[in-house]
Formats: sequence, C-alpha cells, structure tokens
Amino acid sequence: MSSFSDLVKKSRSIRRFDATRSISRDTLLSLIDTARFAPTGANKQPLRFFPITDRDACDKLFPLLHWAMALPDWKGPTTDERPTAYIIILADTEIVPEQRIAMDVGIAAQTIALAAAEMDLGCCMLGAFKKDDVTSCLKLPEALVPELVIAIGAKGETVHLVEPRKGNDLRYYRDEQDAHCVPKRPLSELVFEQDIL
Ligand SMILES: Cc1cc2nc3c(=O)[nH]c(=O)nc-3n(C[C@H](O)[C@H](O)[C@H](O)COP(=O)(O)O)c2cc1C
Repeated sequence: MSSFSDLVKKSRSIRRFDATRSISRDTLLSLIDTARFAPTGANKQPLRFFPITDRDACDKLFPLLHWAMALPDWKGPTTDERPTAYIIILADTEIVPEQRIAMDVGIAAQTIALAAAEMDLGCCMLGAFKKDDVTSCLKLPEALVPELVIAIGAKGETVHLVEPRKGNDLRYYRDEQDAHCVPKRPLSELVFEQDIL
C-alpha cells in the first residue's frame, strides 16, 4: 500500500519527458482544481493558473525557461524530451502585493506536483525563466505576474533519491545509467532543538 510519504518521495523534479505523449486540458484542470483547496495567507486566494497543452504554445514557452543549473553540460530537454503541458502560476497583484505571495505559490505548486505524481505524471517547477518574455508570450494583463512555471508530461527519465556525496555535496547529478540522482540531507541534520526551559 502506498503511503503519503511514498507519494512525496515519488514526486521528484522530472526534466526529461516523453514528448510523444500529450496531456489533456482536463488533466491540467483537475490539477488546478486540487490546488484550489490549498491554503493561502488570509484566504485571499491571489493566484491564477494558466494551463497550456497546445503544442505550438508549448514550443513558444519552452525557450524562455532555464533547466537544471547544476548540470551545466546538459543543454536541457531535446525536442523528443520536452514537456507537453505547462501550468504557469500567476500572482494577481490587485489582490496581494507580489512580495507577499511566494509562500502561497510554493504551497500551490507542491499541491499540483503531488497531484501529478499521484497520476504518475512527471513535473518540474521552474522559477528561472525570462519573466518579461513569459509575460508577453502569455499576453498577460498588467496585474498578473508569472511566478512559477510547472512543466508537466509523461516521465522520460528515472530519478533516484540518494545520500549527499562526500563533503556534503548536495548538487544533483546523473549516474552511469544516466539516471538523475537527487541527494537529500538525513533527518539527523534537519532537526534543530535545544533546551528552552
Ligand atoms: C521554487 C523552485 C524553483 C525551481 N526552479 C527550477 C528551475 O528554474 N529549473 C530547474 O531545472 N529546476 C528548478 N527547480 C527544481 C529543483 O532544482 C529541484 O527541486 C531540486 O533539484 C531537488 O529535486 P527534487 O525536486 O526531485 O527534490 C525548482 C524547484 C523549486 C522548489
């Protein structure tokens, strides 16, 4: 039986997809519909979600994104490996100033990532993108600011969770089998406690 913890472990950043497998608009709407119930500061619900499944629209957005800074020799997904859908999380700055929206974006994004993992889809959050170019590509009105791009598609790579390498090196890498490896710190390093009495 799969536990919630298994789902979180399964929900890895996927950067190589199967470009032959399209994602339906209904699938994206179902992911957004789940994120709708995520918490937001003061329940202001200041986020908007821009779903993209059209192949030409995906092709317009793709060059504006930056992939895997920690793999400088990798040029990003090839044409065969590109995501076939995107959800762009937008801040409605008429509801909340942009500086106060990052936590809501993170919570919504992880909710979408977990829902996608449950459907066995791959996704990758992309915070590094050409903001002005994405704004014009999406023809956004002034109040809507793109905060995070979530690339979505059928998985085209294997990802392993691993221990940090020597020297506590947390950079992700690809192993001899070309699997993507993501080091995670052990629990013992994460817990901070001291006597406060
Ligand atoms: C807020 C945020 C922004 C991110 N931006 C990018 C990005 O621009 N490009 C990219 O390739 N990965 C990006 N990632 C993915 C991280 O690199 C990834 O989460 C990290 O390597 C750990 O892998 P994991 O998601 O499988 O745990 C981002 C992740 C988060 C949470």
